Amino acid sequence: MALQTPADDVLLHADGLVKRYRRTRRSEPFTAVDGIGFAVRRGEAFGFLGPNGAGKSSTMRMIACVSPASAGTLRVLGHDPAADGALIRSRIGVVPQDDTLDAELTVRENILVYGRYFGLPRRAVRGKAAELLEFAQLTERADSPVENLSGGMRRRLTIARSLVNDPEILLLDEPTTGLDPQARHALWDKLFRLKRSGITLILTTHYMDEAEQLCDRLVVMDHGRIVATDTPAGLIGRHSTPEVLELRFHPGAQSVMAEKLADLAVRTEVLPERLLLYTADGRTTLTRVLARNADPLTSLVRRATLEDVFLTLTGRTLVD
Ligand SMILES: Nc1ncnc2c1ncn2[C@@H]1O[C@H](COP(=O)(O)OP(=O)(O)OP(=O)(O)O)[C@@H](O)[C@H]1O
Ligand SMILES: [Mg+2]
Repeated sequence: MALQTPADDVLLHADGLVKRYRRTRRSEPFTAVDGIGFAVRRGEAFGFLGPNGAGKSSTMRMIACVSPASAGTLRVLGHDPAADGALIRSRIGVVPQDDTLDAELTVRENILVYGRYFGLPRRAVRGKAAELLEFAQLTERADSPVENLSGGMRRRLTIARSLVNDPEILLLDEPTTGLDPQARHALWDKLFRLKRSGITLILTTHYMDEAEQLCDRLVVMDHGRIVATDTPAGLIGRHSTPEVLELRFHPGAQSVMAEKLADLAVRTEVLPERLLLYTADGRTTLTRVLARNADPLTSLVRRATLEDVFLTLTGRTLVD
């Protein structure tokens, strides 16, 4: 008998989902999310990867039941946000793109107040807060005002707070944007632990390394549409060669060199500062480039990444 995923294992399902905004009463509506479909199973880490304005946060707000869909269907934990928003909100955790911590309260108070908002008993929230502060490595900061925290600590606190109701799904909108590399890695470590504990993670990012590290599957979004869906390795395998040879020539010479070297690669991509040659074997390609006396200023062979996938699919870079 063929193995099938039971329907109740799909925690999140969207079909033809649309979000339109009207900027002023008279203006034409602007379509931020343009008919997307996806399904997320229990225990998955699922990502939305895309550049600024792709429609990631708009999608997350619809899932979080704080912004109604303009068209299409959406089911979160089997329920319709339009009919059962309160029920859904009680079973999910939300880490919004912009921090919504209360700067006048202490670290601990932020969690307590949030827990009370879910109607949890005071004593239960106290115990839960202690546990979450430990998880977020903020126990020593429990009584400090939030305004004294670093960016990484604030993010960890927002995640701790979002877990107060033991959510089945955790929504993370750009969890590490603006953080330094060390703080990002510390956060990734927390997210890995949550994933291992069985919680379903839905995250958005415009960092390809974050998507590659954290997501089991992801969609690539651009201009409100999904342009590809797969595992990180699947996307790279389908939309790129395994390796990329990056060459740098004198400013202005990239295009000319691209033409001269095009036959050495499966595909070339001209960026303002670099010429990319897509190839199965970067070192061999480099040897051939040098044999033509092309003489690049610098050269680098690297593994293909999701950035290359995005470039292939859209002709643009993820972060500009
Ligand atoms: N409340 C709103 N009213 C009008 N337009 C909006 C509103 N929210 C978002 N938009 C527009 O919808 C588009 C998608 O925005 P959204 O915030 O969903 O993108 P994003 O992928 O999250 O981008 P970023 O990476 O910058 O967070 C953008 O053009 C944005 O200006
Ligand atoms: Mg956003």
